[in-house]
Amino acid sequence: MTTRRDALKTLLAGSMIVAAPNALGALAYIDPPLGQKLKIPPLLDGEVNGVERNFSLTLQQGLTRFYHDVDTATWGINGSYLGPTLRMRDGERVRIQVSNNLNENSVLHWHGMNVPAKADGGPHQHIMPGGTWTAAFQVRQPAASCWYHSHAMHLSGPQVYKGLAGMLIVNDDTSDQLDLPSEYGVDDIPVIIQDRIFDREGNMVYPHRMEDHMIGVRGNTILVNGTLNPLFHARSGRTRLRLLNGANARNFTLALSNGQTFWQIATDCGLMEEPVELTQLVLTPGERAEIIVDTRGTEPFKLINVPVPASNVPYYGLFTELLMEMDRQAFDILTLEPSGLSLSDQFSLPRQLAHIDWIPESAATTTRLMLLQMGEGQGNGGGQGGGPRSRREFGGWGGGSHKINGRKMDMNFIEATIIAGTTEIWEISNETPMIHPFHIHKVHFQILERKGMPPLASERGFKDTVNVPPHGRVKVIAKFTGPGDPMIPYMFHCHILEHEDHGMMGQFMIV
Ligand code: C2O
Ligand code: CU
Ligand code: CU
Repeated sequence: MTTRRDALKTLLAGSMIVAAPNALGALAYIDPPLGQKLKIPPLLDGEVNGVERNFSLTLQQGLTRFYHDVDTATWGINGSYLGPTLRMRDGERVRIQVSNNLNENSVLHWHGMNVPAKADGGPHQHIMPGGTWTAAFQVRQPAASCWYHSHAMHLSGPQVYKGLAGMLIVNDDTSDQLDLPSEYGVDDIPVIIQDRIFDREGNMVYPHRMEDHMIGVRGNTILVNGTLNPLFHARSGRTRLRLLNGANARNFTLALSNGQTFWQIATDCGLMEEPVELTQLVLTPGERAEIIVDTRGTEPFKLINVPVPASNVPYYGLFTELLMEMDRQAFDILTLEPSGLSLSDQFSLPRQLAHIDWIPESAATTTRLMLLQMGEGQGNGGGQGGGPRSRREFGGWGGGSHKINGRKMDMNFIEATIIAGTTEIWEISNETPMIHPFHIHKVHFQILERKGMPPLASERGFKDTVNVPPHGRVKVIAKFTGPGDPMIPYMFHCHILEHEDHGMMGQFMIV
């Protein structure tokens, strides 16, 4: 039996670490099957009728087999859990029809897509049960791994949890021309990482404990593309993983169990300038990265989550414990069975990927401050803090007071009205003791600095979601391009879905 400390030591020594499968599972259904074939979401290219690429999506209820012998009630898009991978190209016109066969309002948002406000699928565009909504837009962005998910007002957390999410791949001439693995499902693989709570009967449970909602809902079981204990058999020596942190609230610190390095080739919104060699990569909820893994050889290895030194500063009582627990957990995510190719076979990567125009700070005409706040100030904590001192010192839990700039999400309040074509700097300041992944709809930003420090190697490219550390500050710059719409706003918010649902969201307009 290795202790966590030993495991960490081993990892630091760069040798094999094998986290126990399902290591989070105090509550999980007993007997999770080992080594299930990784499910690959069906690829949907839509139907091209002359001028447009047409997709048709249906939100529906279903039953999913996560365990061999249990049917678990879930939601999905054109299926029982999660949705198909949509694939489209820069420049083309796209029409996506979304039908809601569920019994509550919903809507799909195209996260990472530069689309007009009325096609964005934010909380202003809800689809009633039995209703249909169509998003039409022209793709105007470089190749990237984006995604789509429910964005229903106050319901994003539970709806995404049940399964309303999927991946969206954009291709362009650059991605076509590069020598990168691009055979979907063979050497180009979506990896949607999520955590869920399963009870002893195998039901997926969305918890309602106050603390889960305070810090966000974290599960005891890891799923990849809806597969429990997944195993992928690589057929080629290079495998491209399109990693998406699709969890409601959990951060992942990814590494390979054999200590090998891997190469990051894309950030949230597109290819980087050149491959970046890494041993670890942090993804907060909503963030994506594409990596190339060397899958030559014969020895199976794993994509794992490694424990991190506490990223969250002490809060109080129970919350500190829960936050620290997340930081400390080690677990497996995906087993990779390599191709069997000899290590002397060639493994090559393009030296250059995409050209990136770096936006100079001087291009910005406005700087805005976004203060991320929670758990204080409303005075209605009701004594629900974690300890006897909590209420006096920290103002209690505040009944869900997740705010930005002192305000909870209000459909009638517009934080910023921006003239199309303007470049702005947003300085996001985290006034809380935990990480918040800050997401801006529509725009693709570049990170200028983190409290005076340059961005991490893994975030040098276009982004739409950024890890803002506890009491940290991140400066981003973006051009807010048109078309303008004087009626419909875009959202910016924390991508911990419970924080979004509870008010850590605001609106801006491009006019
Ligand atoms: Cu992926 Cu407004 O979110
Ligand atoms: Cu978005
Ligand atoms: Cu948050």
